[in-house]
Amino acid sequence: MAVFVSSRLHSYVCCLLFIIISQASAQPGFLDYFCLSDEGSFTANSTYHTNLNTLLSNLTSNTQIDYGFYNRSYGENSDKVYGIGLCRGDVKADECRSCINNSTVLLTQLCPNQKEAIGWYDKCMLRYSNRSIFGLMETSPLFYTLELVNATNVDRFNQVLDNLVENLTGIAAASGDSRRKYAAGNATATNLETTIYGVVQCSPDLFEQDCNRCLVDAFSRIASSGKISGRVATPSCNIRYENFRFYDEPSTTADAPAPSL
Ligand SMILES: *[C@@H]1O[C@H](CO)[C@@H](O)[C@H](O)[C@H]1NC(C)=O
Ligand SMILES: *[C@@H]1O[C@H](CO)[C@@H](O)[C@H](O)[C@H]1NC(C)=O
Ligand SMILES: *[C@@H]1O[C@H](CO)[C@@H](O)[C@H](O)[C@H]1NC(C)=O
Ligand SMILES: *[C@@H]1O[C@H](CO)[C@@H](O)[C@H](O)[C@H]1NC(C)=O
Ligand SMILES: *[C@@H]1O[C@H](CO)[C@@H](O)[C@H](O)[C@H]1NC(C)=O
Ligand SMILES: *[C@@H]1O[C@H](CO)[C@@H](O)[C@H](O)[C@H]1NC(C)=O
Ligand SMILES: *[C@@H]1O[C@H](CO)[C@@H](O)[C@H](O)[C@H]1NC(C)=O
Ligand SMILES: *[C@@H]1O[C@H](CO)[C@@H](O)[C@H](O)[C@H]1NC(C)=O
Ligand SMILES: *[C@@H]1O[C@H](CO)[C@@H](O)[C@H](O)[C@H]1NC(C)=O
Repeated sequence: MAVFVSSRLHSYVCCLLFIIISQASAQPGFLDYFCLSDEGSFTANSTYHTNLNTLLSNLTSNTQIDYGFYNRSYGENSDKVYGIGLCRGDVKADECRSCINNSTVLLTQLCPNQKEAIGWYDKCMLRYSNRSIFGLMETSPLFYTLELVNATNVDRFNQVLDNLVENLTGIAAASGDSRRKYAAGNATATNLETTIYGVVQCSPDLFEQDCNRCLVDAFSRIASSGKISGRVATPSCNIRYENFRFYDEPSTTADAPAPSL
């Protein structure tokens, strides 16, 4: 009887996990996540838990924000929670809020009691912790994928990709501001049968040098692979390239200049 009960429990845990994981992979655009154990865990309905829920349900409530970066903290002392939601630089405000909102639902299901967690979607990232995460340059945890397909002319491809990412990195780090550090562009070359489209982005709370270092470090994980598509993401920055355009070009009406601080 005891054996029966425990195996039932076991299969229950197994299937619950299975259901959550299949829900996750069924979420359009969901990429990867980490439940981080360094900062410990919270118990259900603890002050930390309710603070986290308040923070997340309110993270995107400021509809004035149209640049895709949401950071907030909520709570007091050891129960204070810090959260960051960041959308890819070309994503419109409504879609951005929806993406972050979806992330809050999924990430809290996947990490039911860790104080710190991070999750990436195609178009946004969500992270939260009980430590202050604003302005920190963090290169782990890291997630990357490379398409299996090789470029036709690997050496030339790597060279053009290196140049493109280096160029975009410079633009995102140097010309970005505290609201957006993002650059998108494409590159073609003779002897290259394709156009490479790339996007690089930093959390805009980073300093220029940190943004630059983060992107250089992240790119080193996927550079020189000769694969036609790749992505790498860390808490502080992310890079994606493809052989098709996957981002929206900025509209011709330029953004209003950032208010000087
Ligand atoms: C986060 O919570 C853990 C325990 O769960 C604690 O050890 C750690 O000091 C907390 N971090 C901060 C910055 O309060
Ligand atoms: C937490 O609160 C919810 C709703 O208030 C309740 O359904 C649940 O049983 C509580 N869980 C624990 C562990 O107290
Ligand atoms: C939620 O956000 C709104 C708008 O930004 C703010 O007025 C409100 O105080 C926030 N609520 C909490 C509980 O933080
Ligand atoms: C959020 O989830 C809903 C329901 O799964 C989906 O229809 C919507 O496209 C998602 N939003 C984003 C931005 O992924
Ligand atoms: C966030 O998602 C929940 C559950 O999917 C939904 O009920 C809620 O309306 C969404 N909120 C926003 C602001 O999109
Ligand atoms: C890609 O190239 C590598 C060597 O550079 C080779 O080992 C691999 O089989 C190739 N993959 C495909 C899918 O052609
Ligand atoms: C990026 O490339 C463009 C055109 O190839 C060039 O005009 C621009 O100066 C480059 N920017 C940086 C930061 O390298
Ligand atoms: C490549 O980028 C340039 C801007 O640098 C843009 O004018 C052009 O339309 C892009 N090409 C494609 C095919 O997207
Ligand atoms: C958001 O981040 C900035 C740094 O970019 C920080 O100065 C600010 O206090 C944060 N906002 C909130 C609500 O914590």
